[in-house]
Amino acid sequence: MGGLYGIRKIIRSDEIDASQTGKERIDVNETKHAMDVLTAIALRRSVREFKPDPVSEDVITALLTAAHQAASSWNLQPWEFIVVTDQHAKEALAEAVTVGNQPVVLNGGVTFVCLGSMRQQDALADRIANTPLPPDAAPERRERLVLTAAKMREDVQWRREHVLTNTYIGIAQLVLASQSLGLGSLWMGGYDEAKVKEVMGIPDDYLVASLVTVGTPAQEIIGPAVRKRRPLEEVVHRNSFGGK
Ligand SMILES: Cc1cc2nc3c(=O)[nH]c(=O)nc-3n(C[C@H](O)[C@H](O)[C@H](O)COP(=O)(O)O)c2cc1C
Repeated sequence: MGGLYGIRKIIRSDEIDASQTGKERIDVNETKHAMDVLTAIALRRSVREFKPDPVSEDVITALLTAAHQAASSWNLQPWEFIVVTDQHAKEALAEAVTVGNQPVVLNGGVTFVCLGSMRQQDALADRIANTPLPPDAAPERRERLVLTAAKMREDVQWRREHVLTNTYIGIAQLVLASQSLGLGSLWMGGYDEAKVKEVMGIPDDYLVASLVTVGTPAQEIIGPAVRKRRPLEEVVHRNSFGGK
């Protein structure tokens, strides 16, 4: 794999599970060639030109695992991913994205079609409505849970925002993990959702949250990104809105 930082070992999901059960220890020295988070944040920029190198299955698994470790409201975990590496699938997907994004999807190593699952939202509403309460719990507590569950099922806008917001947290981790492994990425909102759903066979109760292409950048990333950003002072308020 190219980029600034070669990797000797990537943490895979089964190894994380093993570490959680205490059966096997991860040697952190083996992962030291992945960048730390702040370095990855500093170097990340949107990459729109890729070398035609494939992305290995180990790396794809590491990226999916990074996304799947994300925090989510009520542990909703709404994210699901279609991993597009096959050339025919890339060509079909490219038909569903804006013209500017087409070369990215065609040339990048892998494109993740990032989905938000409304099924998970409904399953969460069921879990909340059925949360076991201690026998002496105040009746209002059950009422509150039932009301929360009803809102989760019925408030169309709230449901959509809840699923998308939480899906984006997973996507952000995937993007930063890509950078941390020396790969480039492009986060894309430029696509026709109905077409993406059609060509990828996505059921109605899923939202297409974003597409992310990951691959080897055509130009090596050798320093922090030059950012067009609003000044930090403009976006920070101290202790109250407008406070300096
Ligand atoms: C939700 C989202 C959607 C985006 N959609 C596109 C897109 O469709 N095509 C594209 O070229 N860039 C897209 N971008 C990349 C932004 O243009 C880019 O992040 C922004 O200009 C800042 O540049 P940087 O990523 O290099 O820091 C998107 C980024 C985000 C977060």
